[in-house]
Amino acid sequence: MPDLHPHVIVLFGATGDLARRKLLPGLLHLRHAGLIDDCQVVGTALHDLDDERFRAFARTAFDEFGRSDVSVEERDDFQKRLHFVPQNGGVEALRQAVTDAEQRLGGEPRRLHYLSIPPSAAASVVELLGKADLVERSRVIMEKPFGTDLASARALNDTVHQVFDESQVFRIDHFLGKEAALNILAFRFANGLFEPIWNRDHIEHVQIDVPETLGVDDRASFYEHTGAFRDMVVTHLFQILAFMAMEPPTALEPRSISEEKNKVFRSMRALDVRQVVRGQYEGYLDLDGVARRSDTETFIALRCEIDNWRWAGVPFFLRTGKRMAEGARIISIAFREPPKSMFPDGSGVGAQGPDHLTFDLADSTRLSLSFYGKRPGPGMRLDKLSLQFGLHETGAEADVLEAYERLIHDAMSGDHTLFTSAADIERLWELSTPLLEHPPPVQPYQPGSWGPGAIRQLIAPRTWRLPFERGWRQAPQST
Ligand code: BG6
Repeated sequence: MPDLHPHVIVLFGATGDLARRKLLPGLLHLRHAGLIDDCQVVGTALHDLDDERFRAFARTAFDEFGRSDVSVEERDDFQKRLHFVPQNGGVEALRQAVTDAEQRLGGEPRRLHYLSIPPSAAASVVELLGKADLVERSRVIMEKPFGTDLASARALNDTVHQVFDESQVFRIDHFLGKEAALNILAFRFANGLFEPIWNRDHIEHVQIDVPETLGVDDRASFYEHTGAFRDMVVTHLFQILAFMAMEPPTALEPRSISEEKNKVFRSMRALDVRQVVRGQYEGYLDLDGVARRSDTETFIALRCEIDNWRWAGVPFFLRTGKRMAEGARIISIAFREPPKSMFPDGSGVGAQGPDHLTFDLADSTRLSLSFYGKRPGPGMRLDKLSLQFGLHETGAEADVLEAYERLIHDAMSGDHTLFTSAADIERLWELSTPLLEHPPPVQPYQPGSWGPGAIRQLIAPRTWRLPFERGWRQAPQST
């Protein structure tokens, strides 16, 4: 565990939804878990609050979204550490608020600036931090999307690099903070069983599927300018794909992992618009903040290819969307099928698709390996069976850090392993250019469905893994 240091945490967008649901409760939990040293939090936002009103806001957030294992004393202690400075107070007010917080801590604490703000505001806040002279001893966490295309990502990176060194910048992708994401690396590289078959000789295709049941209702004005591709694919799904596809790093340390991830992106082929299905759920156009004839996609499914020695010819199918039939976050790996002619007619071999390895990226990791086995009794009839692992069975579930908690802790410790580099982001936008320039028209889909009908042709002759034919096994009920 790295050394902890006293920190002043400057939270931009402190009254926003992310701060309320994840960041403020997450900071409190990190403090409770002993993973944050002495700290002061300076919240800032366009709202005109003072310390008391900000503390009241945080208190409601703790009650609604905090963990139950935090005591009232811990919560009250943390609340006293919260301060607020309205963003329209400008450079001087911000500098003063941080100086005051530093004096309360004493010495030369580190600074963590968390930019929980819309992408359009990122550049001006970075410049503000420069003018307020808050760059020294600091790290900055930035929220996605990092630009909206290659040109804007480059411009944003240039602005950031005029103020901060790349080593100070932590571009957050909360999917990589999920316990299950790092478990992909453990699973692949800590076992002799799977890595030898982790390639085009044995794997037929891969699916990364993140359907969501929620709509965009109160986020419509953000979403309307973002859409599913920028909101979910460029960041979360491509990042997970890199963990799944990368070569073994020389060491489990940030630079080696980042190099291997970047190699995956360099080997990826630019997206082919003929292999993309964009969808929009019926009813989206009626939301406040949405243009009457909006072409924003609330759903996207696409096929992409990694043209390297490990993966050439293995399609990766990615899908995500709002208002879909179920919420899930899975990676599903389909293995090549064996010769089947030895089995008698009607045995059912291969009838339920190929063998699959499935990761569930839920906070409580689950993993399943499906295979054919013999149905008990006479003759040779085969059934699809599965071996399943669930973190909930180990009793260690309470130790899981929520994704934002883990990533804030990593950023405070200077660990870039789970963050995205400027080079990765620019490469991903470059690969996306054909789609951004010539997006296929959005196709309508029914809320509660799995997306427009065209997704079946996209993956044919294969089929989408979701909905599962067999559910995950539940934890046994304790008596
Ligand atoms: C966010 C997206 O980054 O991830 C949201 O902006 C999406 O649109 C969310 O709903 C999904 O994250 P999680 O952790 O809830 O699966």
